[in-house]
Amino acid sequence: MKVLGIESSCDETGIAVYDSDNGQIWQRLYSQIEKHREYGGVVPELASRDHVVKAAPMLVDILAEIGSIDDIDAIAYTRGPGLIGALMVGANLARGLGWALDKPVLGVHHMEGHLLAPMLADEKPELPFVALLVSGGHTMLVDVRAIGDYRILGETLDDAVGEAFDKTAKLLGLPYPGGPELAQLADSVTQSRFEFPRPMTKRPGLEFSFSGLKTAALNIVKQNEPLSEDLRAEVAFAFQQAVVDTLRIKCRRALAETGYQSLVIAGGVGANRRLRQVLDKSTREQNARLYFPALEYCTDNGAMIAYAGTLRLLQGQRDEAVSDVLPRWSLESLPLL
Ligand code: KG4
Ligand code: ZN
Repeated sequence: MKVLGIESSCDETGIAVYDSDNGQIWQRLYSQIEKHREYGGVVPELASRDHVVKAAPMLVDILAEIGSIDDIDAIAYTRGPGLIGALMVGANLARGLGWALDKPVLGVHHMEGHLLAPMLADEKPELPFVALLVSGGHTMLVDVRAIGDYRILGETLDDAVGEAFDKTAKLLGLPYPGGPELAQLADSVTQSRFEFPRPMTKRPGLEFSFSGLKTAALNIVKQNEPLSEDLRAEVAFAFQQAVVDTLRIKCRRALAETGYQSLVIAGGVGANRRLRQVLDKSTREQNARLYFPALEYCTDNGAMIAYAGTLRLLQGQRDEAVSDVLPRWSLESLPLL
């Protein structure tokens, strides 16, 4: 079965086709980052408008490569969570196509897309596993007992990890979204004279809090202004170290609590090289294994939506005749596969 996947929950337009017979993927990805950069963050109305302009031509382009629209058997789109206007663009495109072509349509949970993205790799994690979902909007540890059987073990009480990366990057004068650039700056040095806290690691539990790190960064920056290039790199290094260390401690705890042998890391921050290295070492020490998606499937993309949709569509799941997009949508409320 060939499934078209449409992702438009935030500032990336992702169009992909996944073929469940052989695992082949065709994809197009367009990032709106340049459009939002001058505002220092995503402007929802601009995001919706840009999805409208880009999605249909990207679809035409990908269909030209795979053959024709008749080769598509079903359509999956991101139903939520995300920006309401942006979600509606993808949802309307999917439903319009489904109606015109008389093909089944299914709305997919964006975080389930991220969560299952490591299944697109050659080495797939075995169920059950613990998933660390770290993106610009979410930070959570999930007990994945089966596909669709999700229990949230811990979430952030304030900022998401990606958000903390982006805000700290902004303090250091890096352009939006600064996560990858802060990481690059941090990797340019091997030590730092600064030390950031490891929030909520001393008490038991699997909740996170990252807003304090941004405040700590602000204080350091103020105390050391004007920051030399070396000092900026040292702030970035100490910040990244604190985030990675905090995530390591919580992942270790989650594996010990569940007794599972697999840890899956997904979401935009999952692209962080240092985080991958540190989690790989720490899971090995626990006789467990770390799985992560290819870099291109870490940040938002259409392939992960096509894949998650395929699993559910193959089981006969479909949208109801009338279904709204869901800007807020609990991962725990999804139906079992
Ligand atoms: O999953 P994603 O593409 O979008 C959301 O659903 O939020 O994640 C984007 C987030 C941004 O905050 C970005 O700065 C962060 O992921 N990010 C990184 C890295 N690459 C992307 N953060 C740290 N290190 C990276 N290498
Ligand atoms: Zn995402």
